[in-house]
Amino acid sequence: MLGARPVERAGAVAYDLRREEPGDAWEVEALFDLCFAPGREALSSYRLREGVAPLAGLCCVARDPDGVLAAAIRYWPVRVGEAAALLLGPIAVHPTRQGEGLGALMLQESLGRAAAAGHRRVLLVGDAPYYGRFGFSRLDGVEMPPPTNPARVLGLPLVPGAWDGVAGPVGQWRP
Ligand SMILES: CC(C)(COP(=O)(O)OP(=O)(O)OC[C@H]1O[C@@H](n2cnc3c(N)ncnc32)[C@H](O)[C@@H]1OP(=O)(O)O)[C@@H](O)C(=O)NCCC(=O)NCCS
Repeated sequence: MLGARPVERAGAVAYDLRREEPGDAWEVEALFDLCFAPGREALSSYRLREGVAPLAGLCCVARDPDGVLAAAIRYWPVRVGEAAALLLGPIAVHPTRQGEGLGALMLQESLGRAAAAGHRRVLLVGDAPYYGRFGFSRLDGVEMPPPTNPARVLGLPLVPGAWDGVAGPVGQWRP
């Protein structure tokens, strides 16, 4: 579990997975800047994050045995219509560490933790060929702020049927 400092193997390397702490933030931002195109914060998904804190219990970093940051994942709370959901992302694996299974490890660990914490449904904007292997599929009727390609709006139920009947615009979390 995150927070318990597990050492998980991805390829030949044993990674230390733990919760993202405030002191990790600048390295995580630098990793996202490295992995995503310039101007990533202009993406429509960032409008849902503005002024809303990420879910600290689900945000996770992976460090190699030398303490070098290798991957990070964050989650935000959002609403779809009136239903609560998790917005997964950004997730990034350092370019020199990609293809070792670290992305899969980060997803499985954090999604397991989300389910254990009682969250019911997750959405993201991403590539279906990658996220499909973790059970994500296209969400019809769930509208991310434009411009977002609807084919990239993907969801995963953390309890059976959790996306059934859930549709409408994705909006900022309101407590
Ligand atoms: C996408 C990302 C998180 C995947 O992490 P990773 O550790 O490289 O992935 P894994 O090792 O778990 O999985 C590798 C497999 O996923 C595939 N894959 C990776 N990115 C993919 C994509 N965008 N679309 C389809 N398949 C993809 C690889 O081809 C490889 O396939 P194989 O198992 O058949 O060889 C990582 O490549 C990354 O940080 N990319 C840059 C940032 C990014 O695009 N983030 C996601 C935004 S939606």
